[in-house]
Amino acid sequence: MTVRHFLRDDDLTPAEQSRLLDLAAELKGSPYSRRPLEGPQSVAMIFDKPTLRTQVSFGAGIAELGGNPMLVEGRLAGIGVRESVADVARVLARQVAVVVWRTFAQADLDTMAAHAGVPVVNALSDDFHPCQLVADLLTVREHKGTLPGLTVAFVGDGACNMGNSWLLAGTTAGMHVRVAAPAGYLPSEATFARADEIAAATGGSATAYDDAEAAVAGADVVVTDTWISMGKEAEVDSRVEVFAPYALTPGLLALAAPDAIVLHCLPAYRGKEIAAEVLDGPQSVVWDEAENRRHAQKAVLAFLLEESA
Ligand code: NVA
Repeated sequence: MTVRHFLRDDDLTPAEQSRLLDLAAELKGSPYSRRPLEGPQSVAMIFDKPTLRTQVSFGAGIAELGGNPMLVEGRLAGIGVRESVADVARVLARQVAVVVWRTFAQADLDTMAAHAGVPVVNALSDDFHPCQLVADLLTVREHKGTLPGLTVAFVGDGACNMGNSWLLAGTTAGMHVRVAAPAGYLPSEATFARADEIAAATGGSATAYDDAEAAVAGADVVVTDTWISMGKEAEVDSRVEVFAPYALTPGLLALAAPDAIVLHCLPAYRGKEIAAEVLDGPQSVVWDEAENRRHAQKAVLAFLLEESA
């Protein structure tokens, strides 16, 4: 049996991503139509970083799939501290059908996946936030009708999990992904190289900008995220200064396509990375985006369970 995991956005082929988005849309329309966790089987949800949307949307979604959402308190479990990631993986797999884990190092997720024997889902790491991207793409598809060929501009901390995930997931969807960030805050060359490789097959593209205005010009979708990701709190002063020219203001948004939509994974800091007029304005779809976490993650769980059967 091959166990499928969802650790980074490019774990899905373009065809699988498209299928998964179709399933998410189906589940949104018919929330109780699939019961792959009937029993109920349990899903462990482990959080080593703060959470609101992820905990609630996974918890509600797992219940809707017929399962039992089991919150495992990261601080009590002490994964990698009290015992190795590999030993935790071996223990969890004897109890639960899926492991959902929010943590710091991507390498720890890889280790968990290597030893679990059940699907492991990245619920945000320092490097990627793939579940958020399924929700984001679902939201864009709902509002724009399609994904291939659309231009998305991500402005701000391009090196954070959301910048990286947009590069991989956006190009997988055949989108033109522009990332605008100050020097030192762009996704790594390796991530751009991977996005280029994906884009070559899907017709998308991946481009780095240092100028936010050039990146946003004519874009169909404009995305930003906090300048201070979880774990970066000590850098708040330097970050607020370096990212100031990348704030998503009404003036910057005016350069995008007239019907452009605005996404933000939340939590948002009004007056910092995004102006209140933009976040709360008519082009913002952030509440749909937040709702879509549940539908997207249900599709991820159903897909992984089916593929791992
Ligand atoms: N980049 C942010 C995303 C929060 C959902 C962080 O890692 O804190």
